Amino acid sequence: MDERATWATRIGFILAAAGSAVGLGNIWRFPFLTGESGGAAFLVVYLLLVVGVGVPVLLVEFVIGRRSNRNPIGAFERLGHPGWKAAGAVGAIAAFIIFSYYSVVGGWVIQYVVASFTGGYGADAEAFFLSTASGTNAIAYHGLFMATVAGIVALGIRNGLEKAATVMVPTVVVLLVGLAGYGATLDGAGAAYSYYLAPDLSTIVGDAVSILPAAAGQAFYTLSLGMGIMITYASYIGEDRNLLQDAGVIVVLDTAIALLAGLVVFPFLFTQGIEPGEGGAGSIFISLAGAFQQLPGGELLGGVFFLMLLVAALTSAFSIFEVVVSYITDTFDVNRVPTALGMAAVLFVVGIPTALDLTYLDAYDLFANNILLILSGLLLSIFIGWVYAGEAVEELGKGRASDGRIEAIWLTTLRYVVPIVLAITLALSVRDYIGFLQESFL
Ligand code: TRP
Repeated sequence: MDERATWATRIGFILAAAGSAVGLGNIWRFPFLTGESGGAAFLVVYLLLVVGVGVPVLLVEFVIGRRSNRNPIGAFERLGHPGWKAAGAVGAIAAFIIFSYYSVVGGWVIQYVVASFTGGYGADAEAFFLSTASGTNAIAYHGLFMATVAGIVALGIRNGLEKAATVMVPTVVVLLVGLAGYGATLDGAGAAYSYYLAPDLSTIVGDAVSILPAAAGQAFYTLSLGMGIMITYASYIGEDRNLLQDAGVIVVLDTAIALLAGLVVFPFLFTQGIEPGEGGAGSIFISLAGAFQQLPGGELLGGVFFLMLLVAALTSAFSIFEVVVSYITDTFDVNRVPTALGMAAVLFVVGIPTALDLTYLDAYDLFANNILLILSGLLLSIFIGWVYAGEAVEELGKGRASDGRIEAIWLTTLRYVVPIVLAITLALSVRDYIGFLQESFL
């Protein structure tokens, strides 16, 4: 049981962790939430949460993973606090729900790849999105995405794909930069930038209350936090590694890509005369399909773009398999292949409602991100801040020259700032969610 693999190279761990973080969350979910939640005010709250909550919690997961050398549920036993397994379990449930509909959105991306190469997205970008997003075609492509993930994991060619991602992710960035540059030349750019980048500071404190659940949920989602993913990945790394540095690289990369996606989406939406919140979950698809449609050679460009997005989505998707497969193979004497295939089958079925009706997608998404991830983050921060502080500080100090100052700031943040912010967020999220359920299903 004890001879666990370690990452062969420093870059291997960073790539896998960044591959998990960078995905549909940055390019699909971030711009659509920003559009629905009021633009620049959302951006400000989101960025504050990434720095003030996301970074400390990412370090918590790294510390738990490396210290325990275990999957997120076994970890707490190994650290001598089996009762805290509950924190790992909440995260595992969240990851499960998220993955079931992530695959549905992945299926939309596949449909856009196909459409790019076979005649385009039709005259009406909004109608095209709606026909993509639900119905039997959405279920079929959800199945295809799931089968691809399971197949790649079962065949053991995941590493190859992660290497491919070293090429793909920079390609996504280059394409986004190019699209943002083109967006800057459009008529709607000025209005888009002021919507996206110029917060109204006079109302931001009041707005923050309504923004908090979505912004905090997104901060966790995009960094793959609160699901045990980073615990699992860090369980394979050596003590010579500087966890702070690795966290910094991942957070900066992830945040930069999300910000860039916003710079692409909003100019196109404003120019097409679509209200920023109106596109909903379709924002990125509607705005880009509309733009690619008009550009010379746009469909080829679109095909390349959506293909790259698909790769980014796949590398995120592997991370969840890694968690579950590592848990099951750590705990029981079973094989990787049947585990991966069985899980894919169950996840496929669980995701089906979200492929039939976008309201279900919202119901899954809000519950997992705004409630479960926040709860998991709250438990993890209390555990490290109040129960396991001494050992955690020692673990964070490994692999770098440390005078203890950063550890002290980290610990204070985990004891006070993170739990208070997350407890308030959780209360607001539960209230909002009850409202959402009443409005949507009663
Ligand atoms: N971080 C990923 C992204 O930004 C999303 C993600 C987080 C995810 N956890 C996941 C995807 C679990 C699949 C399964 O896209």
